[in-house]
Amino acid sequence: MDREYTYLNCLAELGVGGAHPGGFKLTQEILSAEHIGKKTTVLDAGCGTGQTAAYIAQQYGCQVTGLDHHQLMVEKARKRIRSLGLPIQIVHGNTEALPFADSQFDLVLSESVIVFTDMPKTVQEFRRVLKPGGCLIAIEMVLEQPVSPQKLAHIKDFYGVSRILTEEQWVQLFQEAGFPSIHSEKYDLQFGVQNVPDFSLSEDVDVKYFEMLEHHMIMFESTKEILGFRVFRCKTV
Ligand SMILES: C[S@@+](CC[C@H](N)C(=O)[O-])C[C@H]1O[C@@H](n2cnc3c(N)ncnc32)[C@H](O)[C@@H]1O
Repeated sequence: MDREYTYLNCLAELGVGGAHPGGFKLTQEILSAEHIGKKTTVLDAGCGTGQTAAYIAQQYGCQVTGLDHHQLMVEKARKRIRSLGLPIQIVHGNTEALPFADSQFDLVLSESVIVFTDMPKTVQEFRRVLKPGGCLIAIEMVLEQPVSPQKLAHIKDFYGVSRILTEEQWVQLFQEAGFPSIHSEKYDLQFGVQNVPDFSLSEDVDVKYFEMLEHHMIMFESTKEILGFRVFRCKTV
């Protein structure tokens, strides 16, 4: 079997839930500040193994759709949803060309996803599928300070991303997609480090993926001054 040892394949093979800065604890905190009722329509874009999608459906009893590009993530998310008996649709799709009509969702949640995509396309798609008055909540890594080209290349190479944006560049991206109101909030990197791990391992996981996870921990420690994250709350009106 051909294997590509990418960060996203690593997350998928190990079935890491809450694979975003701040983890599940941050997700719960952010959502508790939203007005989510039974009629709220939510898209968890880049849902990974479906931890957040499942939580929203259980906690708020609203209509949740999860979407991910990675076939293995989709399988693991569907397995989770089935085992919990939740009425969530998990769609195999691309955030850069969402298979949804315009103005369909009240809330789009995107937890560490945009950076892995064609960013302008994805953000424009999020804007398109949101209802007037709807909101995008995005958790994304942020370049906190200038860094040597070598170090930046190493970080980008590890995550498999083409760019790492500063907070100002993120805000500009959301503005250019037509979000008139953008609020950015900084959290401490330590937020959520004590999250309970959530794994759903594939059978016979290649040991290389465990090594990659370890490499990630080392990189996380060594880039603390350089890489942070923000929660961006972008309103359509
Ligand atoms: C870092 S993981 C985060 C997963 C999940 N949001 C979480 O917090 O656990 C990034 C996710 O984005 C998905 N992804 C990356 N590019 C995508 C795209 N173009 N369309 C849909 N999903 C994408 C990956 O497959 C992966 O599941």
